[in-house]
Amino acid sequence: MATHLKTAPRNTPRAGAERVDARDKVRGATRYAADDARAGLLHAALVPSRIARGTVTGIDTAAAQRVRGVRQVFTHENVGAFDTGGFLMGGGFGFQSFYPLRSPQVAYRGQTVAMVVAETLEAAREAAALVQVTYAAVPFVAGIDAPDAQPQAQSALLPQPMFADRRAGDAEAALQGAAFTVDAAYELPTQHQNPMEIIATVAEWSADGVLTVREPTQNAEGVRHGLAKQLGIEPARVRVLSPTVGGGFGQKNSLQSHTALVAMAARALGQPVKLVLSRSQLFHNASFRPASRHHVRLGADRNGKLTAAIHEIDQQTSRHDLFPSSGTEITSRLYGIGNFLGRERLVRTDVQTPGYMRAPFEHPAAFAFESAVDEMACVLGRDPVAFRLANDAAADPISGKPFSSRHLAECLVKGSTAFGWARRTMAPRSMRAADGSLIGWGVAAGAYKAAIAPAVAKVRLDANGTVRVAVGGHEMGQGIRTAIALTVARTLGAPVAAVEIVLGDTTAAPQHLTAGSWGTATALPPVQEAAQRLMEDLRQNAGGQAGVQADANGATAVALLRASGRPFAEAESRMRAPGQPEQVFGRLTGGLPAAAGPVYPDFVAFSFIAHFVEVRIEPTTRRIRVPRVLSVADCGTVASLRTARSQVEGGVVWGIGAALREASEVDPRYGGFLNADLAEYVLPVAADIGRIDVDFVGKPDTRLNAMGVKGLGEVAMVGVAPAIVNAVFHATGKRLRRLPLRLEDLLES
Ligand code: MOS
Repeated sequence: MATHLKTAPRNTPRAGAERVDARDKVRGATRYAADDARAGLLHAALVPSRIARGTVTGIDTAAAQRVRGVRQVFTHENVGAFDTGGFLMGGGFGFQSFYPLRSPQVAYRGQTVAMVVAETLEAAREAAALVQVTYAAVPFVAGIDAPDAQPQAQSALLPQPMFADRRAGDAEAALQGAAFTVDAAYELPTQHQNPMEIIATVAEWSADGVLTVREPTQNAEGVRHGLAKQLGIEPARVRVLSPTVGGGFGQKNSLQSHTALVAMAARALGQPVKLVLSRSQLFHNASFRPASRHHVRLGADRNGKLTAAIHEIDQQTSRHDLFPSSGTEITSRLYGIGNFLGRERLVRTDVQTPGYMRAPFEHPAAFAFESAVDEMACVLGRDPVAFRLANDAAADPISGKPFSSRHLAECLVKGSTAFGWARRTMAPRSMRAADGSLIGWGVAAGAYKAAIAPAVAKVRLDANGTVRVAVGGHEMGQGIRTAIALTVARTLGAPVAAVEIVLGDTTAAPQHLTAGSWGTATALPPVQEAAQRLMEDLRQNAGGQAGVQADANGATAVALLRASGRPFAEAESRMRAPGQPEQVFGRLTGGLPAAAGPVYPDFVAFSFIAHFVEVRIEPTTRRIRVPRVLSVADCGTVASLRTARSQVEGGVVWGIGAALREASEVDPRYGGFLNADLAEYVLPVAADIGRIDVDFVGKPDTRLNAMGVKGLGEVAMVGVAPAIVNAVFHATGKRLRRLPLRLEDLLES
């Protein structure tokens, strides 16, 4: 192993091929927005609301202004007029439509009611604590379980086809006639994603009125256009830079509510301003996974065929926005159930608007549905893997279209073989370890849409061998830079380390909202096409040149370029999803969501996964351990094996957290969340994680795109939680239907 400790030359292709940004990251060389520590930078601190709903009646900033170094305290009274940035799911750019300080209104606990800007962070925070705010409070709804929380049908609130009930056949009638039924309710809590990199903004104006914002975001173009709208300036005068994001997970997928305030403060004070949210403010000012409740009814016939499914979901939203649920998008496609009804309702609560958190709807929906499927297998006395295989879908039950590719059965078969599933004994409580622990083995499947957004890719090769790639996309740690570098290097015959990749820069290429696991299928095909065009161009132009044979197929791009005598060569590719019109590029360049899928003109497209889990339950304390997980994914072509594995491992860890640890505790007395820090918001730590084996089917989906890639980041997490819960049932005979599982749920009463 000693050789691994030696410093490898920076530009060895081998090191780069593994993870191109790893070396910088582990050395702390990667720069994040909050790392900016220039002289002359002013620091902002937010003042949070102490009430959950009402109005600010007065703000006394005198004590705050006396703190040495304070430059200004901004409130709704003095910040000046600015526009809303709108709501992402309502034609706008923000994670919510509510922008604090546009009025004295308070919409949720922890909402910003003032912002202090000072010469030091210490002064800003000290002064923020001294701002005295008085309120007129009104009654509020703290959470989905509050007595006056009112679920309303999503189909009525949002009368658009994409938010409608999902139907195939006649589920109610089929359920009536079913020989066997399962009818069960499941609950999941509010959760917060807590990326390592907290949301931060550095805003700076040039002398000629151009605004540059450095902020970790998955949506630089949306932030740019949203800010332009809010500030009433041309988008051409706004540049947003987000080259590296320390974890996005959906929380950074749109315009934040405070970003314009930082920009306005920088303009008013004539100096760059930096704001870094605190961890607690992240819980109360950024989006999160809404709480949800699920009612699942399944019907099966005597041959063990699922004949009916009704999946009803209640999901939390805010009072000011309707954050739509789409959990039944995948539960209607997991099996070939001819009679399906999916119905979603929204529950307004007084919180900031919830949003997308890794597998936002799919993880909760799969927890409920895959638990119920396991319950049905148990009712029928069938092995849960065999039961799932027997109910595989040949075509999409909802649209009737074929799947672009579907290898879920192969995931299940491959996984059960590798896991040793044949050694599982059927009866609950029938497997025990030498130390007396109960052993349970569980399985569950997952799916996630394979979406694609439009993208423009540019590849430029210089005679010195440098390859420069610009494309839409954001690197949030998922490995998109590695996948791009491998693709370009292979096509051009160039070393991976020669490839420089510009991402998250609104001046380099239009930046799509990087979310929904569509980053790889969006960026790689145009990048590959641009690189291929570059090669074709070089081959044609090198044909007559001395030193390079007319048949130049074996030559590298740089050899061809040098032979041509040109200083550089470049090529571009524009691509959009199947069925998308050319005008979709207008949405892309306008900073609006532009992805398509999972339903395309000729097929539907999903990624699939099967998870196999072993739990061990300590006999006296009932502590649940997860020593072993094995996951097999069908994500089409595996573009970068190292980062793909890492994505699945991360999804599994997150699934363990979701099943056994994570919950944001709602404060019914004052609103907001009680455990708003990393000490009390409990996450799995290294000691909680055992062995995780990852494998892939690896069959290209060339119907979806030329590279055959689907998505991976989110499907990785879908189905982990139910596999754990199904394993706990196998270990104990207890069917738990509320996450996270608690030790007390397993104590004998
Ligand atoms: Mo992802 S939760 O769609 O950013």
